[in-house]
Amino acid sequence: MSERPQRLQKILAQAGYGSRRACEQLILQGRVRINGQVVTQLGVQADPQCDVIEVDGKRVQLSEEHTYILLHKPAGVVTTRRDAHAARTVMDLLQSVSAAVFPVGRLDADTTGALLLTDDGELAYRLTHPRYGVPKTYLVEVRGEVGEEALRRLREGVLLEDGMTAPAQVQKVRYLAGRRTTLLRLTIHEGRKRQVKRMCMAVGHPVVRLHRERFGHLTLHQLPVGAWRYLTDEEIVALRRAVGLAS
Ligand code: URA
Repeated sequence: MSERPQRLQKILAQAGYGSRRACEQLILQGRVRINGQVVTQLGVQADPQCDVIEVDGKRVQLSEEHTYILLHKPAGVVTTRRDAHAARTVMDLLQSVSAAVFPVGRLDADTTGALLLTDDGELAYRLTHPRYGVPKTYLVEVRGEVGEEALRRLREGVLLEDGMTAPAQVQKVRYLAGRRTTLLRLTIHEGRKRQVKRMCMAVGHPVVRLHRERFGHLTLHQLPVGAWRYLTDEEIVALRRAVGLAS
């Protein structure tokens, strides 16, 4: 077990109640109790070994064993735990998984590729925090023939409405003359909303197709579209180490 006492939102995240931010919301909404007392402040600490922590009246179980899943997300599926509009979600593809996993970050509905799901809230929080700069590699098909100037701008940083993007690695894979599109391989270390599409649009090349090949060091290998697999122990250790968590 990790050090104790700890901040309440960290304990809840580790117990699988979502990201640390989502857990802060649970606290602010008055849904969390420690030893029978409702807690609505964020600085409060608890000892998960001794204190009785409840969410919505249910005792929080700290599981030592977390579940880590890599999904080959198909197009047309929404990255969310639940969808009020009854769209098909990534969770529909994981119906045989009993753990309360949730997606780490987001892929747009039309984006395909590597999506990590876990119930390890602390790891999820760190993997999506800009401080850790986890690399994400995309194969991108964009309209038109991408020239040197656009490549340079993508590499050095593009001004978007939420600020400059951090330096990215960009490789021109090839120009597809028949389709009048260019294939790029692009690695970013941030995870802003629709970032790749906005970056490419900003340099004059709208995205036609977007596929995430790699998340951190995780790759899909031969995983078919729509299929998922558990991470190996080695992958879990490497992922945790990459964001400063002891294995
Ligand atoms: N960038 C995007 O624009 N969309 C995605 O789905 C992922 C990264």
